[in-house]
Amino acid sequence: MAGMLSGKSTVITGAGRGIGRSAALRFAREGARVVVSDLDPDPAEEVAAAIRAAGGEALAVAGDVTADGFPDRLVGAAVEAFGPAIDVLVNNAGYTWDAMAHKMTDAQWEAMWRVHCTAPFRLVRAAAPYLRDAGQRDLAAGRRVHRKIVNVSSVAGTDGNPGQLNYASAKAAVVGFTKTLAKEWGRFAVNVNAVAYGWIETRLTQPKGEDTVIDTPEGAVAVGVPQQHLDAFRDRIPLGRPGTPEEAAGVLLFLASPLSDYVSGQVLKVTGGA
Ligand SMILES: NC(=O)c1ccc[n+]([C@@H]2O[C@H](COP(=O)([O-])OP(=O)(O)OC[C@H]3O[C@@H](n4cnc5c(N)ncnc54)[C@H](O)[C@@H]3O)[C@@H](O)[C@H]2O)c1
Repeated sequence: MAGMLSGKSTVITGAGRGIGRSAALRFAREGARVVVSDLDPDPAEEVAAAIRAAGGEALAVAGDVTADGFPDRLVGAAVEAFGPAIDVLVNNAGYTWDAMAHKMTDAQWEAMWRVHCTAPFRLVRAAAPYLRDAGQRDLAAGRRVHRKIVNVSSVAGTDGNPGQLNYASAKAAVVGFTKTLAKEWGRFAVNVNAVAYGWIETRLTQPKGEDTVIDTPEGAVAVGVPQQHLDAFRDRIPLGRPGTPEEAAGVLLFLASPLSDYVSGQVLKVTGGA
């Protein structure tokens, strides 16, 4: 398929739902081969099947990004399916597990660091031969081929958010991760950027209720945002509404595509102007 990502091999974590799902579908429409990875096998398979039904190439790889050995397995599966190249890696998988600081458990704290920081670190390390080393080889051969890493952060990390000391700290660490890796791998033509979303309408940000409990590697966790907080957020958004997963995915496409070849080490706030 012709497009901005024609023939590119891309890996997206947390691609079974929400922002990651929209990015997988969007990347595929631009000609990318997409590894759709998610904790939950059924949504991952559904997204991969939708891509294939539209004439694209996709592979679903189910598993927990925080599990020992999973990042190596994911990179191995990508390379086996689409050949020895990874052109784009999107570290998107994640969830929230809120509590006020004085009531937060160690399990809540550690889970957020594992999924938002440790997993992306292990994935980047596992993919280094196909991102860093491949870029180095291309440059030695006189070719400059940009490869892209896009990390998903949050305005909770850049600005703080009550009830999310664990999540906000881990998402803030994603900023340091992004800027440091951009400095380490820039000379190999690897662009590393982050997107800090505000409020995008997904299951994480649905109005809190009894049906907003999700399965995570740590067990059942209540997600969602109290309705009165959503109403207050809306008032602070100049565009007056939350973003859609498709709008969120458009920014990931920009940072994954040649349009952003001279953009690196940046954290792009995607907040409707908030
Ligand atoms: N929705 C927002 O307003 C918002 C704002 C800022 C940042 N984010 C971030 O965007 C990213 C995507 O979230 P979303 O809003 O699309 O939520 P979502 O729940 O719709 O999708 C997240 C996906 O990640 C998967 N996932 C979670 N933990 C995983 C694990 N350990 N291993 C593999 N997959 C896992 C889930 O199964 C799910 O399919 C997350 O990192 C989230 O923190 C979202």
